[in-house]
Amino acid sequence: MTERRLEDVSDRNLALELVRVTEAAAIAASRWIGRGQKNEADGAAVEAMRKAFDTVAIDGTVVIGEGEMDEAPMLYIGEKVGCGGPAMDIAVDPLEGTTITAKGGPNAITTVALAEHGNFLNAPDVYMEKIAVGPGLPEGVISLDAPVKENLKNLARAKGIEISELMVCMLDRDRHQESIAKIREAGARILLLGDGDVAGVIAASLPGGGVDMYLGSGGAPEGVLAAAALRCTGGQMLGRLMFEDEAQIERARGMGITDPSRIYTLTEMAKGDVMFAASGVTTGAMLNGVKRVGHGAVTHSIVMRSKSGTVRYVEGHHNFAKKGFSL
Ligand code: FBP
Repeated sequence: MTERRLEDVSDRNLALELVRVTEAAAIAASRWIGRGQKNEADGAAVEAMRKAFDTVAIDGTVVIGEGEMDEAPMLYIGEKVGCGGPAMDIAVDPLEGTTITAKGGPNAITTVALAEHGNFLNAPDVYMEKIAVGPGLPEGVISLDAPVKENLKNLARAKGIEISELMVCMLDRDRHQESIAKIREAGARILLLGDGDVAGVIAASLPGGGVDMYLGSGGAPEGVLAAAALRCTGGQMLGRLMFEDEAQIERARGMGITDPSRIYTLTEMAKGDVMFAASGVTTGAMLNGVKRVGHGAVTHSIVMRSKSGTVRYVEGHHNFAKKGFSL
């Protein structure tokens, strides 16, 4: 077997290993569904994910994580994870949708992305303006500087449909009221999410995702995770960091952000070969949530690699009796 093929085999195995990591976090978080305690849900996911990384054969460094070392005990930026192997950078959101989980609402997921060292944008914990569409559309069909109506017009024309047939997805936030009004005025439909814009952006890129365009601001770290996913599914995404004050800009400079108003393309947020995995905690459009079955649980995950463009859905049947714990 040539060296190249060996590399492919280990890449493929690694992608599947990632599913174990997101599954572990999803099972742990699922114990907190509907209990009204979002920090506990998040803590459980973080701990399980951190532990699951101990068996993954990488020399990993967290670049998108739970925060700085002094504010997060685990999966903090700079933390080393994995049991040894190729040097990889890791982006995690151990529980994307803490509030959703606490309320038992839809769409909470656990996510991980992997790239070679230096290939993820070191996004500070600020908001990011995001716009994303799926694959097969002309380059430049979307713009963060264009008015909402123009983006809708261009997208409808590129898809050969009417604006009224388009479905736009965005977070249901007061700060989006103006855009929401403009989208409705233009005649498009809107899918408003309570939380969870990683899944929202991905929905715009998956066949049958039911979403034509993702729009609006959300967490910048979540933006990088979504970009990693879109590198695998195909599609276009643009992101611009949103700073509230000089202190945030200064902090970002320390993370290597030299131009605070720069618009990042997909490959500027996640370049090179990228892997992405997510597991459902609560059921959403993309993934089913964790379901308790007998003395175990069923998990539903998605795993993808940019190198091959393969998107896999993995259903895991977990037997807790064999592992000596319960849900
Ligand atoms: P959490 O899991 O940290 O609660 O994040 C959920 C989320 O909806 C993200 O998907 C999104 O990027 C961000 O919060 C938006 O932030 P805000 O709630 O401040 O609008």
